[in-house]
Amino acid sequence: MSRRSRGIFITFEGPDGAGKSTQVELLAQALAEREPLVFREPGGTELGERIREIVLHRPESMSAEAEMHLFMAARAELLRTRIEPALAAGRIVIDDRYQDSTLAYQGGGRGAPVDWPASFPKPDLTILLVLPPDVGLDRIRSGGKGLDRLDAEPLDFHRAVAAAYDRLAAADPDRFLRVDARGAPEEIHAEVLGRVRSLLAESEVRASS
Ligand code: TYD
Repeated sequence: MSRRSRGIFITFEGPDGAGKSTQVELLAQALAEREPLVFREPGGTELGERIREIVLHRPESMSAEAEMHLFMAARAELLRTRIEPALAAGRIVIDDRYQDSTLAYQGGGRGAPVDWPASFPKPDLTILLVLPPDVGLDRIRSGGKGLDRLDAEPLDFHRAVAAAYDRLAAADPDRFLRVDARGAPEEIHAEVLGRVRSLLAESEVRASS
């Protein structure tokens, strides 16, 4: 497979309350000249937004496995209809959560049998914002935004999610950039942007060689 026409796929991961959305926005602004496409999961398609409503905001109980499939169904739709065409056209895609979220939350947090489907592309870079689970929970509980079904889980669940993220990052150190989310947003952004700029420079070297 030729990599020449492929764009750059960047994902953001981390616990709730780590400031992910702020960092996604700052990165998109910094890369504005290259017109990156930004998505958040679950969502980004009509089907994905409906699944988001069911999986995050409905009171019905659901098994861990059903929850896993719902997140992955939304992702499959986003991949096929938006992300893959954009990457094939050489665009930069920034995704606010991706398969690592399902591995961490449904796999690590709930114990569901999650794997990585062969048809889901691996990101070129995954930025993991690291925050102690109690700090993240305090931030969202005092943030006045309202809790989703996952936010409302007890501290032990969020500890298991954080541990799963640590294992994922340790197993794939080339793909992950771990950043301490307790720093100032501008400092975190500078670290993220530094890594993204070297990724872009590498891909330009590859494309011209
Ligand atoms: P997000 O939109 O990042 O919420 P917030 O802005 O409140 O951090 O993510 C929504 C929630 O969905 C979050 O609690 C994590 C959860 N989630 C999963 O459990 N599995 C997944 O695969 C995804 C994409 C999200």
